[in-house]
Amino acid sequence: MKFPKILLLSTLALGYANSKSIKNPSSSSTTYYDSFNYNFHCSKKETSLCSLIEEELTDAVLSLSTILDISPSVQFDVVVDDISKYRSNTKKETFATTVNNNFVLLDSRSIVKSPYPNSENLIKSFDSDNKFSKDDFILLINNFNSDSDFLKSSNYDFRNNIIKEIVKGLQALNKLKSPYNSSTSTPPPPPGGQGGNPPPGGNGGNPPPPSSSSMDICDTVQRNKNNTAVLEDARSNDETCENKRANKLSSIINWKNKLIKKGDPSETSNYKYKRLVAIGDIHGDYNKLISVMRHAKLIDSKDKWIAKNTILVQTGDLIDRGNDIKEILEFLRHLQSQVSKYDSVMYLLLGNHEINNLQGQYQFTSEGDITTFNSMKNREKFFSVNGKYGRMLRGEMDVMVAVNDSLFAHAGVSSTYAEQGIDAINERIRDILINVPSFDEMCTLSKNNITNPIYTEPVLNDQNGPLTTRSFANDSEDKICSDLEKTLAITKTKRMVIGHNVQEYGEIQTRCDDKLILIDLGMSSCYGNYFGYLEILNDKNEVWAIYNH
Ligand SMILES: *[C@@H]1O[C@H](CO)[C@@H](O)[C@H](O)[C@H]1NC(C)=O
Ligand SMILES: *[C@@H]1O[C@H](CO)[C@@H](O)[C@H](O)[C@H]1NC(C)=O
Ligand SMILES: *[C@@H]1O[C@H](CO)[C@@H](O)[C@H](O)[C@H]1NC(C)=O
Ligand SMILES: *[C@@H]1O[C@H](CO)[C@@H](O)[C@H](O)[C@H]1NC(C)=O
Ligand SMILES: *[C@@H]1O[C@H](CO)[C@@H](O)[C@H](O)[C@H]1NC(C)=O
Repeated sequence: MKFPKILLLSTLALGYANSKSIKNPSSSSTTYYDSFNYNFHCSKKETSLCSLIEEELTDAVLSLSTILDISPSVQFDVVVDDISKYRSNTKKETFATTVNNNFVLLDSRSIVKSPYPNSENLIKSFDSDNKFSKDDFILLINNFNSDSDFLKSSNYDFRNNIIKEIVKGLQALNKLKSPYNSSTSTPPPPPGGQGGNPPPGGNGGNPPPPSSSSMDICDTVQRNKNNTAVLEDARSNDETCENKRANKLSSIINWKNKLIKKGDPSETSNYKYKRLVAIGDIHGDYNKLISVMRHAKLIDSKDKWIAKNTILVQTGDLIDRGNDIKEILEFLRHLQSQVSKYDSVMYLLLGNHEINNLQGQYQFTSEGDITTFNSMKNREKFFSVNGKYGRMLRGEMDVMVAVNDSLFAHAGVSSTYAEQGIDAINERIRDILINVPSFDEMCTLSKNNITNPIYTEPVLNDQNGPLTTRSFANDSEDKICSDLEKTLAITKTKRMVIGHNVQEYGEIQTRCDDKLILIDLGMSSCYGNYFGYLEILNDKNEVWAIYNH
């Protein structure tokens, strides 16, 4: 939706003068869309900003009503207010937030103070005929009155943020049925304890690290030979996948491309590589990988590499959950040889799911994946030290890579690991992965208390390690940003880009002043079916979040 900039500026100036009063009841509109019923209150009703927001609101509600069936219908208030004033983190913008009818925030992650500090004024500004419906929730939308520069930048996206907030409101009030009644973000890490066989898959978390005791390794090896047992896990994984596939939110949310950082263009003119594209978790969705790579003009419509002087980084977790593991690895294997002819580079990083597979942890393998290899036994051969895909994962994929001023790793590099050195870690892990004995041999060795480092090396098994940690996505900025600074200083980089943590509603998020960028968008059809990637334009010194436009 285009909004004329000049018009906006003049109306902002005009509208500001009477922004204290909320529109009286006669002109507040009540709108019904099947399941949705809301009152829209905007103090600058006549101005373009109110019209713009109302249009985006209407569009958002119409879109939601195409995928959500809510009965009885919901009743809520929509209030446009200067939310920027009430942020707890003044560096982050917020478009909208949902509160209950006592103005308590429904989403604990929101950066708006709770209870909403301006509630008294809002209530007063409604007269007896125009009070809050007080039924379900209140959606507060930012008019950016105290941050008109933000609107001038025209980098705004009310529609998708409104969709997001209404869904959050409905979720918090238990108004949604499966598959919309659970958050799309990654659940917290599983408890550290473990014992015996891995639990049946499909709980959405990480598999527990395998225990190093002899019985456990032999149990796992034994169990993996039982195709019935392996397929049982696979079906449980597939059920989770089906449930996520039923979620159609990605079909109505389409984020606008967003400029994350604009640096000084003169600083970068001598870069050989003009462009870097970083793609997050793929999880067995070949079509999604292809469509993202075509969109980024890395490959053409025949899937041949076409990008000159370009770097592709995939941050791990190509495999598990979806069916297309063989197709994905086969495709990338062939691509690798074309890339150098275009003076380009492709870095494929290891994720925890690649390592799980090399450890014989198959609880997130799909039935379709096993079927493309005929059996788990045959699949294991392909991933073994001398197998086609084993050689690729073990010999060609690294744990982390620093490209110019960006550091990439699947889950994130804490300073403890950064101190060990990027090359040293990559070499050590490669050495472990290519020298690992067969599963049967490891079982035998474990009876003499000899455990292979693939099960004990911290980089691969530590819950705070670079392939598994959730700290960067989950812990508060107070806790992570100073350690991130250390990592960036040690690795001589300016930002770290990670996958591993599914970002809500398929939106690339940044933390620590954009120095941490989270690009796992739940792109797999087995996850959320979203679409997007990170693009770094070295020649312009710009960092972009790109979506399907
Ligand atoms: C979601 O709703 C379904 C029924 O539609 C229910 O079986 C399931 O337990 C709910 N899940 C959560 C996380 O509330
Ligand atoms: C294989 O696994 C199935 C399902 O877990 C189990 O019922 C069966 O006893 C196992 N077979 C063997 C030979 O262990
Ligand atoms: C950027 O990174 C590439 C790949 O690692 C390297 O070849 C190139 O020299 C770097 N360029 C600059 C200006 O650092
Ligand atoms: C292995 O370790 C356990 C416990 O540490 C010990 O009881 C056992 O004797 C050891 N076995 C061998 C073969 O060394
Ligand atoms: C991180 O996860 C834990 C649960 O493991 C949770 O209690 C905590 O609130 C989360 N922190 C953030 C900032 O989301």
